[in-house]
Amino acid sequence: MQNFENFLLNHLPTSKSIHPTYEEAVQKMLIAGGKRFRPALLLGVVNAYNPLLIGGAYHAAYAIELLHTYSLIHDDLPAMDNSPLRRGEPTLHVLYDEVTAILAGDALNTYAFEVLSNAPFSDYTRVELIRELAVNGGLNGMVLGQAIDCYFENRPLYIEDIKILHTNKTAKLIAASLKMGAIIVGEEKLADTLYDFGIKLGLLFQIQDDILDVTQTSQEAGKLTNNDEQKNSFVTILGLDKALSEANTLAKTLLEELESFDEKLKSELSKLLTHYINRHIN
Ligand code: IPE
Ligand code: IPE
Ligand code: MG
Ligand code: MG
Ligand code: MG
Repeated sequence: MQNFENFLLNHLPTSKSIHPTYEEAVQKMLIAGGKRFRPALLLGVVNAYNPLLIGGAYHAAYAIELLHTYSLIHDDLPAMDNSPLRRGEPTLHVLYDEVTAILAGDALNTYAFEVLSNAPFSDYTRVELIRELAVNGGLNGMVLGQAIDCYFENRPLYIEDIKILHTNKTAKLIAASLKMGAIIVGEEKLADTLYDFGIKLGLLFQIQDDILDVTQTSQEAGKLTNNDEQKNSFVTILGLDKALSEANTLAKTLLEELESFDEKLKSELSKLLTHYINRHIN
């Protein structure tokens, strides 16, 4: 992923103005790092089918990471999860102020689509990628999930609705990362298969995140933990044991589905998923 990090550093959102901290604030959380899980998924699919397209794919991988980073900045705001720590760094509303954090998030959100619009693909592919990111990251995707997540704080939901919440909040963007990889390499049928796989992977990812909330310290996680008590998190609602067994079940399904993928895809994705899939199998 070193090449991706270089790409990111070479394409940071820049802005020269009389504002003393705007540019720094917009760049801060991107540079702070993170697992880069979603970019790695997209690049894994492209590597498996057409490594020659990897240079162009960085644009799309970066666009997803931009949108994801914006979602984290807003997620940490006092009105949402009210968190002082992200990616091992103080959050933007703590470091600067709330207005700056809100606007830095807004800037990253729109910059994601600027980056995609400049990706070196055909007009058709570009529009498909833009649509996929918008559909999964916005109105009926991540933003909807966040709206449900925050509205239903202290209002426990049924497990079916919790799955809908987390599918929107987290899984759709993860599914879109895989699907966008398939779009880039022109594998239309695979795009749908990978999207379904990605939804399950995204749910597993969120269950794991909810488990970490109660098992890791803030320092270990690089973000505020023990912060989900009011939430409809899998652990808050199901309890740790049931959340773990739900994760086990999903991991087993994912492992079976992975087996049905082409060898090259299986090998690219296995590298990224072992941590999530194997840790639940005893
Ligand atoms: C955190 O995402 C928010 C969730 C959807 C659970 P990540 O765990 O991918 O955060 P970073 O990108 O590594 O910081
Ligand atoms: C947030 O979920 C998911 C986003 C869309 C940003 P969480 O609120 O559980 O993420 P963390 O635990 O703060 O990273
Ligand atoms: Mg949240
Ligand atoms: Mg949060
Ligand atoms: Mg969390």
